[in-house]
Order: sequence, then structure tokens, then C-alpha cells
Amino acid sequence: MPAIVLVGAQWGDEGKGKATDLLGSSVDFVVKFNGGNNAGHTIVIEGERYALHLLPSGILTPGCTPVIANGVVIDLGVLFQELDDLQARGVDTSRLVVSANAHLIASYNRVLDKVGERFLGSRRLGTTGRGIGPTYADKMSRVGIRVQDVFDEGILRQKIEGALENKNQALVKIYNRRAIAVDEVLEEFLTYADRLRPMVRDTGLLLSQALDAGKTVLLEAGQATLLDVDHGTYPFVTSSNAVSAGACTGSGIPPTRVDRVIAVLKAYSTRVGEGPFPTELHDDSGEYLRKTGMEYGTTTGRPRRCGWVDTVVGRYAARVNGVTDFVLTKLDVLTGLDRVPVAVAYDVDGVRHDEMPMTQTEFHHAVPVYESLDGWWEDISDCRSFEDRPANARRYVERVEELVGARISVIGVGPGREATISRHPLLES
Ligand code: GDP
Ligand code: IMO
Ligand code: MG
Repeated sequence: MPAIVLVGAQWGDEGKGKATDLLGSSVDFVVKFNGGNNAGHTIVIEGERYALHLLPSGILTPGCTPVIANGVVIDLGVLFQELDDLQARGVDTSRLVVSANAHLIASYNRVLDKVGERFLGSRRLGTTGRGIGPTYADKMSRVGIRVQDVFDEGILRQKIEGALENKNQALVKIYNRRAIAVDEVLEEFLTYADRLRPMVRDTGLLLSQALDAGKTVLLEAGQATLLDVDHGTYPFVTSSNAVSAGACTGSGIPPTRVDRVIAVLKAYSTRVGEGPFPTELHDDSGEYLRKTGMEYGTTTGRPRRCGWVDTVVGRYAARVNGVTDFVLTKLDVLTGLDRVPVAVAYDVDGVRHDEMPMTQTEFHHAVPVYESLDGWWEDISDCRSFEDRPANARRYVERVEELVGARISVIGVGPGREATISRHPLLES
């Protein structure tokens, strides 16, 4: 069987966790290939709510092997806390596999993330403060610490010494903070070494062999298209590749093995942190979406910025990711509105743009051009077939589908696994 990639189409929190969980029983491996514990996925199974940050959503599916691949940055304290919490709730976590090449978030990277944001003041990005950016920066600067380093104390010490040399200069001289001792970092990592060792594998090889043996591999993105470091609203992005192409570098699976790309698109838009957001609402409608959709961050608890759906963004996501199927989530949240606006294009300084503008300046100036669709009042949370739903809700889905240019195969009408309408089987062409 081929590999399937699942990504977020907007600015994150589209409901990727629920979508992965829906596929969980049909796949053998669920792989997290980018990001770290900046992600927050809420999954509701039979009324039980699980919040995952670092662990792939497949951890909740019996029989499925969860993999943390090389493209991820790992905070070991968070990893083991999350495992302990799930074990306490009776979840079997013994199948978890971790790449030897994944990078580790060191305490100095958490500190640098937070003081860096404070230092930026009004130019801050609104990061999650989990050390994600500084850890990816270390990876690219070739001073990162990897999972495998924890099993060779001599090498680990050398690498920490190397990394701390200029970080301590920055902490003390620029940020007016105390220097961090090599031994403090070393000890933190070594505390976890014995528990980590049995989980560590060459995950690229493992996944390649699994595909050869006919297994199905789902590669699940953290964050989303517009938070991608190359294709998002730079610099207001995360520091990894969250688009479908990132699944290959982040896991070691070549593009020729990827057969389907599923993008999760929320029926409206949200964003956490700073950065441009053309359809953002600062009025009662925005508050209505936040309250009804319970739009508060899973990771930081911050209220999410809310706005209408933006099909320029949806079209862009379809193009950049090569989307074969969309999962449209949270349609139930739009119930009860007289009119439901859909952004179809932007007006940028008097010029109409049907595609994402080329420059950051143009995107900051983008004013949405809306098409206003009729709303519906009937409760759709119990609908299980597309034909059962109110005509206006159907029209909304069909119009969004037309505008984004790829089929909407699944529709979410509630947080639970069961609150789902399937129009096309996701794993079939
Ligand atoms: P992720 O980061 O993309 O996995 O998304 P989050 O878990 O951060 O945010 C999505 C939220 O929406 C979670 O609280 C889900 O339980 C919830 N959710 C997912 N799909 C639906 C849906 O179709 N309807 C409603 N009402 N909630 C949903
Ligand atoms: P999931 O996987 C929403 C945002 C942060 C900030 C920017 C950079 O749940 O969709 P970082 O800490 O990554 O350096 O912060 O990216 N961000 C997310 N927003 N959902 C996420 O993940 C996010 N992960 C990071 O709010 O604006
Ligand atoms: Mg989330």
C-alpha cells in the first residue's frame, strides 16, 4: 500500500487530530514528520477527550504503530509526561517508535524562544514558547543535539559545550539572563536515556520496509500550510515544513511512494499568534465563531483569532500540497447564521487577486472579496449522510468545493469520531 499524507490547509487547528483518528483503524503506521509540542490535537473518543502535543494521533488506535520521525523536534520531558498521562488512562503506548535522527529541544532553546519573543516586543511572532524555532535553527546551523547523541555521553557533552558557547554569550550579554551550565543540560538529557533507548529505531528504514510489505503509512503534519516556513506567511510561521512535501524529508519516504494527500480545512478560519489574516473578524461574528467553535488553543489556551472561510487560502493549499481530498471540519459551528460569507478573492490596493499575492506587503493589504451564501438553522450534528442535510448547508459545501478546486470527501459535524459524514472513501482513488 502507498503512503498517505495528511496536512492542515489553513493556520493550524483545523481538526487534523480527529481526521487522523478517523483513519487510524485503516492504517498500520501514523507518522509525525514535523514540528514538536507546539502542536495540539484534541481527539474525542466515546466522549473521552484526549489532548496530544508530541505524540502522533495514531497512539490512540490499538494495533497502529505511532512513529516520531526525523523531522520532529522532541522535548523529552514532554514526551514522557504525555506517555505517562496516556498510560494512566489505560492507553497502550508500548508501540511508539522514535527516530535516532530527530532533534532534541534543550532547555536553552526554550529559554531563548521566550526571551527572544520578549526582546522583539511589538515585532514578536507569538510563538508557543516551546523552543521550536531555536531548535530548528540549531539543526540548520549544525549545532543541534539528536536523539542518538543521548546514548554517547562523550559526544553529548561535546555537542552541548559547542552549542552553549555562543548561546551563553547571547543569554548573558544580550538578554541579561544567567548562563546555563553544560552539566545541567547533560543531566536533563541523560535522565531519559534508559527509557528512550528501546523506542529508538532507524525509522526511515522501518517505514520503507513496511511499505514494501504492503502496509499503509499515514504521515500526519503538525501546524499547517500557511505556517510552513517556505510556503506560509513568513516570517509569521513555524520553523518547519508543514506542507505535504515536508512529509518526505521529515520521514525518509520518497515522493514516489506518496499516493494521496488529504488536507483538513475548517469551515471558517482561525489563527493563533501574530501575522496577517485577511478574513479576521473583530466584531460579534468573530466572537460568535470563537464561542460556538470553542476556539481556544489546545497548547497555550490562547483565544484563537477567528474569521470566515478563505477559499484563496484553500486553493493555495490544494495547489501547494497536491491535495486529492479535503476533510471539511466544524460545519456544525456555522449553523444558525443568516448569511455565511465566503472569501473568493482579495482586493489588493484596488487590484483583484484570485491567487495568493506574491509579496508579504500585498498580503498585508489584502481585503477579502466575499460571496454571501444563505445560512441554515437546522441542527446538523446528527446528520450522517450528505443528502440528509439542509439544502443551504449542502450548497455551502458544494460552493467551497468548487472554489478550492479539489473534492471534499469528508465533513465533520461535531468533535466526536461518529459526528462525520463521508462522501467519498478517503483511502480510495
Ligand atoms: P488540530 O491541531 O488540527 O488537530 O486541531 P485541534 O485539535 O487543535 O482543534 C480542533 C478542535 O475542533 C478540537 O477541539 C476538535 O475536537 C474539534 N473538532 C474537530 N472536528 C470537529 C467538527 O467537525 N465539529 C466540531 N464542532 N468540532 C470539531
Ligand atoms: P497544530 O498542529 C496553530 C503558531 C504559533 C505562532 C507560530 C510560531 O495544533 O495545528 P512556534 O512555537 O511554532 O515557533 O510558533 O506558529 N503555531 C500554531 N498555531 N496550531 C498549531 O499546531 C501551531 N503550532 C505553531 O501560535 O503563531
Ligand atoms: Mg491544534
